[in-house]
Amino acid sequence: LENGVARTPPMGWNSWNSFGCNINETLIRQSADAIVASGMRDAGYQYVVVDDCWFNPNRDAAGNLQGDPGRFPSGMKALGDYLHGKGLKFGLYQVPVDRTCAQYFGSYPGATGSQGHEAQDARQFAAWGVDFLKYDWCSPNGTIDQQVATFARMRDALAATGRPIVYSINPNSIHAKTGPQRNWGDVANMWRTTEDITNAWDTGQTNGYPMGIQNIINVTVPLAGYARPGAFNDPDMMEVGRGGMTDTEMRSHFAMWAVLAAPLIAGNDVRSQSAATLSILTNRNLIAINQDGLGLQGAQVSFDGTRRVLAKPLANGDVAVALFNQGSATTTISTTAAAVGKTGTSFTLLDAWTGATSTTGGTISASVPAHGTVVYRVSGGGTTTPPPATSGALVSAASG
Ligand code: GLA
Repeated sequence: LENGVARTPPMGWNSWNSFGCNINETLIRQSADAIVASGMRDAGYQYVVVDDCWFNPNRDAAGNLQGDPGRFPSGMKALGDYLHGKGLKFGLYQVPVDRTCAQYFGSYPGATGSQGHEAQDARQFAAWGVDFLKYDWCSPNGTIDQQVATFARMRDALAATGRPIVYSINPNSIHAKTGPQRNWGDVANMWRTTEDITNAWDTGQTNGYPMGIQNIINVTVPLAGYARPGAFNDPDMMEVGRGGMTDTEMRSHFAMWAVLAAPLIAGNDVRSQSAATLSILTNRNLIAINQDGLGLQGAQVSFDGTRRVLAKPLANGDVAVALFNQGSATTTISTTAAAVGKTGTSFTLLDAWTGATSTTGGTISASVPAHGTVVYRVSGGGTTTPPPATSGALVSAASG
């Protein structure tokens, strides 16, 4: 979406994965403080997104949305001011429909959702200082065309406020999984590709609830051709630092989100995170690959059912290469400089995790543990045009 924001994948934190509905202004302020004190803000994590359950489900006498006065006694504008004062940005959750995914709803039709109130609600968000709107379908009903029309109305209402606001949509929740069936880049800055993520490597789902890390990657890799500055596939908020996975799996999760040009939205309790979690979330080599100005998503170079190779062309001519082991045993994964779009005979490989560099005449190879990902930044030589994105079951191109 060409609205001036999200020229690279948005980075930040969201309350939902760790806290669900147990949110209030103290928690959000403490989390913001921790994002600053831990160095996450300076590493790029900017948007603090207050997910579901922030509101009084009924509008005020003038029809305006209002925060829950028990959870947010200082009001939503004050929370936005607090975040801005910390050098952070303010995100909020909302739905178009009658009830939120956490089943919050008011006492009359239209009390909660923004459908039919788009202009008024967008103005309210802007007045509160909102910089990021997560707009969640949360209904079993609606064709993909109705979704496009409804999401587009809020897109236009946000634009009409004149405030730069990242527009994040989820077409999938409690709904047929329309996220991966369309290029939503005409509608939003980022769009969820799957049902909700959970804190597990593999739940056996293809695109049902809940999705493990591996399952989400399977859906999102074929959508590479949709990503560009202003428009990114969203494989959901991260589960890094939430237990439930091995260290190798958590590193792989972060590495793959980075190479997939995914929004990097942390979902852990940043007030109590371990040094190991923080070091994953703030890996500078991977963040640089994710935030690269070309805004391309790593495209598949090869996949044999176990060993997956992705290549992400970077603005300076380097190429980031992910060697991802989906199998359950250590294996060697190999590709070549030519296969990832480089020309020449001598290259330097920077290992994004270890920081070690090595040289190669063309072979790019590593022994990768089960569920692990090695990422190399390949420099030297020349660069051909980016490898074409492989396509999956894509339905329609941008329209409307
Ligand atoms: C849906 C979304 C989640 C979260 C919850 C809140 O399930 O996909 O990310 O926002 O709603 O209820």
